[in-house]
Amino acid sequence: MFLKELSLRNFRNYTDLSIQFNKGLNIFIGENAQGKTSLLEAAHFIHSLQSFRTQDEKSLINISSNDALLSAEVEREGNVINLSVLLDDKGKRVKLNGKKVAKASELLSRLAVITFSPDDLFLIKDLPSERRRYFDKAILPHSPSYLKTCIRYDNILEQRNRLLKGIRDKKRDEEKGLLRPWDEQLVEEGTRILFKRRSLVEQIRPFLEKIFQAISRDNKRPILIYETQLLPAEALSEGNVVLRCSEAAEQRKTEADIADKVKGLFYQLLEEKRKEEFRYGYTLVGPHRDDFQFSIDDQRAKTTASQGQHRMIILALKLSEAVLYKEAFGEYPVLLLDDVFSELDEIRAEALIEQIHDMNIEQVFITAAKKESIPFSNKGCSFYLIKEGTVKPYNS
Ligand SMILES: Nc1ncnc2c1ncn2[C@@H]1O[C@H](COP(=O)(O)OP(=O)(O)O)[C@@H](O)[C@H]1O
Ligand SMILES: [Mg+2]
Repeated sequence: MFLKELSLRNFRNYTDLSIQFNKGLNIFIGENAQGKTSLLEAAHFIHSLQSFRTQDEKSLINISSNDALLSAEVEREGNVINLSVLLDDKGKRVKLNGKKVAKASELLSRLAVITFSPDDLFLIKDLPSERRRYFDKAILPHSPSYLKTCIRYDNILEQRNRLLKGIRDKKRDEEKGLLRPWDEQLVEEGTRILFKRRSLVEQIRPFLEKIFQAISRDNKRPILIYETQLLPAEALSEGNVVLRCSEAAEQRKTEADIADKVKGLFYQLLEEKRKEEFRYGYTLVGPHRDDFQFSIDDQRAKTTASQGQHRMIILALKLSEAVLYKEAFGEYPVLLLDDVFSELDEIRAEALIEQIHDMNIEQVFITAAKKESIPFSNKGCSFYLIKEGTVKPYNS
């Protein structure tokens, strides 16, 4: 799948842009504040109806306009479709081939995109809630119904917390018995979330290691760990064995065993923490307390990895997600890499490009401040110059 054409009207500093792209590497060169990030942001917005750098959608509309129009031609297995989004103070109106689309998820499935933004580098050091949000999003393309699971879980959690708060603040002891039905729902939906997250982490892990080693050009082993109070340690290693198990039936049986164990542990912990929950007034057990930990050679990346290593872990994570998408859907998503070469030395920058070449990703957008920072022969790449909200072929 690839973006053939992008048109922007009054999106950020692009008042009127219409540009065609090639397959392969598209490299956008431009000085600071010319519109590099905004261009990738536009492509990302058409895919997800969200910006990767702000929640404030008004800031996406050019200051001298009341609305913004984004439109893209996407080619997929020989078919071309048009996606467009009109953004104004009433919200977003989405069209597919000129016809209104009600659900945003329609877009997600039409144009798949994986974006690296320098803001992603915070992922390793950020709060656990940000990591949960990140990985929950990464599950969505593979399992669209996961969104509903998460919404249901959040609702259950909110109601259960309200009940606990009432018991704590208003001493409504008689309501303690009302907790039980919430426990059951919490365990059901919570276990579902836990399994999806665990499965994603286990699928990412081998690619993360391979790609990190290729980009960093050494043998250090990065590992992504899903930290949860609800998975007995032996179930994690059992999980790894399960993946290697050839008999599908055997695998299902073991998965069901682990699910039973998780649920058992979930109920047991809820029981153990009951008094504490009454005291605190909120839910102390469940996947809303889970975390994801990156390490390199058994050392926590958060506290020991260099800035370059942080960047390489995140890049390897993004490329691993691209591989998983390809495995599931038979084609790569479009890869958007914003300002990807800062903090990478020449060798690593070259290794990254080589890795992207080896993977044979159909289309990649890369932004950089200087052409000299692009470390490779120009074969099969298209260069563009971005200047004050215009994009032109680059003539060196
Ligand atoms: N809503 C807007 N209207 C007009 N200009 C904007 C708007 N939002 C951002 N800009 C401007 O667009 C320019 C390009 O920003 P950006 O794409 O982040 O630059 P780059 O990534 O090339 O450094 C900046 O000068 C910024 O101030
Ligand atoms: Mg930028």
